[in-house]
Amino acid sequence: MIVRFIVTLSAIDFNKIKRIVSAVISMVKTTLSVIKADVGSLVGHHVVHPELLKVAEESLQKAKKSGLLHDYRVTNCGDDLELIMTHRKGEESAEIHKLAWDTFSKAARVAKDLGLYAAGQDLLSDAFSGNLKGMGPGFTEIEFEERASEPIIVFMADKTEPGAFNLPFYKIFADPFSSAGLVIDPKMHEGFIFQVLDVIKGHSYELSTPEESYDLLALIGTTGRYILKRIMRKSDRLVAASVSITKLSLIAGRYVGKDDPVAIVRAQHGLPAVGEVLEPFSFPHLVAGWMRGSHYGPMMPVAQRNAKCTRFDGPPRFVALGFQIKDSKLVGPADLFDDPAFDWTRWKALEVADYMRRHGPFMPERLGPEEMEYTTLPQVLEKLKGRIKKE
Ligand code: F6R
Ligand code: MG
Ligand code: MG
Repeated sequence: MIVRFIVTLSAIDFNKIKRIVSAVISMVKTTLSVIKADVGSLVGHHVVHPELLKVAEESLQKAKKSGLLHDYRVTNCGDDLELIMTHRKGEESAEIHKLAWDTFSKAARVAKDLGLYAAGQDLLSDAFSGNLKGMGPGFTEIEFEERASEPIIVFMADKTEPGAFNLPFYKIFADPFSSAGLVIDPKMHEGFIFQVLDVIKGHSYELSTPEESYDLLALIGTTGRYILKRIMRKSDRLVAASVSITKLSLIAGRYVGKDDPVAIVRAQHGLPAVGEVLEPFSFPHLVAGWMRGSHYGPMMPVAQRNAKCTRFDGPPRFVALGFQIKDSKLVGPADLFDDPAFDWTRWKALEVADYMRRHGPFMPERLGPEEMEYTTLPQVLEKLKGRIKKE
C-alpha cells in the first residue's frame, strides 16, 4: 500500500503542477509597463507634438477595448513620448511590446507628415521582432501581486542617460540619512538588493546593502557604465524599483540622442514612503547629457507641464507621476514635483547650470573622451590626423 502510494506520488509531474500554479498566479498579477521613445518633436528636440499624443491615445484606447491593456496613460517628458500601461501579460510580453512599437511607428509617420524634427529617431530597427530589447525604445516593467493599496511613482527623464538614476536611487534604498525607514521600519531594516548592469560587458551584479554599500558605490559611481537596473527588498525579494537600461549609442554605435530613461518605484507599507522616494531629488545632481548628449548639467525636477528643455537644450529634467494601482487600473496621476517644496532645488539647478556653462567646451562641463566616442567629436578629430608632427 505504502509502496503504491510512493509510486503514484512520484508519477505526478511536479514541474507541470508548478507551471500551472505560476500561470494561475500570473493571471491575478498586475504588470506595469512604462515604454518610451523619441519619434520626433516640435522645434528641434523640444516637445512631443499634440498630434502624436493623440495618435498614441487612440492606439492604446483600442488596446484597452480589446482587453489587451487594463489601463493606460499617454504623456510626454520633453521630446519623449511616454506610454504608461497596466495589463496581465507579464514582463517583456511580445504582445505589449508590439503594441508599443506599432504605436510609436504610427506616431513617427505623423511626425514625418508634419515635418517634425528627428522623426522616427529612436526606432532603430526596420521591423518588430518579438521584443523591444535592442530596438531603440526604452522600457521598464514590474509584475507584482497588488498589495492592499499600491502606491507607485513613474519617473521620466529628458536629456540624460539611465545612470542619472544611480545617485537618487542609492539614497532612497541605502542611505539612512535620506530614508528614515531604513532605520525605523522593521520591514526595510534588513536592507535592499541592488542589481547593477555593466552596459559595456553586458553582465550584471547583485549587491546587498548595507553590508556591501561600498562595493556598490565603487560600481555605480561610474554612471556611464554601471547602471542600477532593479532593486529588491532583502527580506522577501519583493521588487521595489526598476529602471530602463537602454543605451542608444551602444545599439546604434553612434550618437542618436540621449536615452532619456524611465523608472518605476513602489512606495509605502514596508517600502520607502512617497516622501522618502522624492527626498533625494531635492539635490540637483550633475548628470551626463544636456546639449548634444555631451555635457554635464544639473538635473532639474519639474512639473510635467514644464518638461520642455530650452536653455542649451536643457537643463536635463525629471518628472515624477504618482499613481495608485487597484485591480490593474491606474488611479491618478499626481504630478509630484509640481510643488513649491522643489523651488529651491530648481533655483539651485539654474545656478549650477550657469556655473557649468561658464566652462564652455572645456571638461568637466564637456564629457570626457571615453563618452565623447559616441558623439560627432571623433569626426572632427579625424580631420586633424594628416596634420600630426612627431615630437
Ligand atoms: C540632446 C539632444 C540635442 C541635440 C542637439 C543637436 O539629447 O538631442 O541636444 O543633440 O540639438 O541636434 P542635431 O544634431 O540633430 O542638430
Ligand atoms: Mg531627443
Ligand atoms: Mg528626449
